[in-house]
Amino acid sequence: MIDIHTHILPGVDDGAQNLTNAVKMLEQAAADGIKGIVCTPHILKKSDFDKEAIYFKRLETLKKAGQESGIPVELYLGSEIYIQPDLSFESRMSTLNNNGKYFLIEFPMSTIPRFAAEMFFALIADNRIPIIAHPERYVGFLRYPEFAFEFVNRGALLQVNAGSLRGKLGSEIRQLAYKFMDHNLVHFIASDCHDVERRSCKLKETYQLVAEKWGEMTANSIFIENPKIVLEGGELNLPMPSPIVKETATWKNAFKKILKYWK
Ligand SMILES: [Fe+2]
Repeated sequence: MIDIHTHILPGVDDGAQNLTNAVKMLEQAAADGIKGIVCTPHILKKSDFDKEAIYFKRLETLKKAGQESGIPVELYLGSEIYIQPDLSFESRMSTLNNNGKYFLIEFPMSTIPRFAAEMFFALIADNRIPIIAHPERYVGFLRYPEFAFEFVNRGALLQVNAGSLRGKLGSEIRQLAYKFMDHNLVHFIASDCHDVERRSCKLKETYQLVAEKWGEMTANSIFIENPKIVLEGGELNLPMPSPIVKETATWKNAFKKILKYWK
């Protein structure tokens, strides 16, 4: 398995705070059957890319420490870019493993930015493919899951967090992650790991869950083949997404929501 969303690069964001912690995370990932990790530190503003040289240096340090400890995991660099109207692709870490095509993008928690659809349209036409990080966690998609299909149908990709699918963030987020899976909208499942405890570098349990519920072929695409193709900037073989129908305001739905509220 290859994990395309991690905060394992030491001392750069809210993930691994130092090299010792980063190596522990690496050990955890290796023990879990992960063979490749893309380090995706947060890029909150364009000027964060100016520190590119530091990030690459940290990557080399971590690679060396991993090799010295005999941990058989390949490391790559990318980033998790916070969505902004003027995205730049000049940096070697703007796309995952500098593949030139696929990049990981984060939305605000509370809303889907109005400019996202138009911006993605222009980018996709330019062969820059956005991978939306953990859509199941955003209030925008929790309220309007049908928009997730709209994004995928127009060429964006979705990366769900392993923990979300295992219910670590509650039943509502798990339900949405399941819904995305049921509608062929999930192209990657990653750990989004920040440490070895609460947000750990593990995928195996979720791989097994996906294989049991949606089949081994789907699990292999999501955890192994798609990430590999992304690292090389190749063409993905995508399943046909099925639309999520907008929930209509029927009395039945309203009643269900009231019941949920009073639970
Ligand atoms: Fe992240």
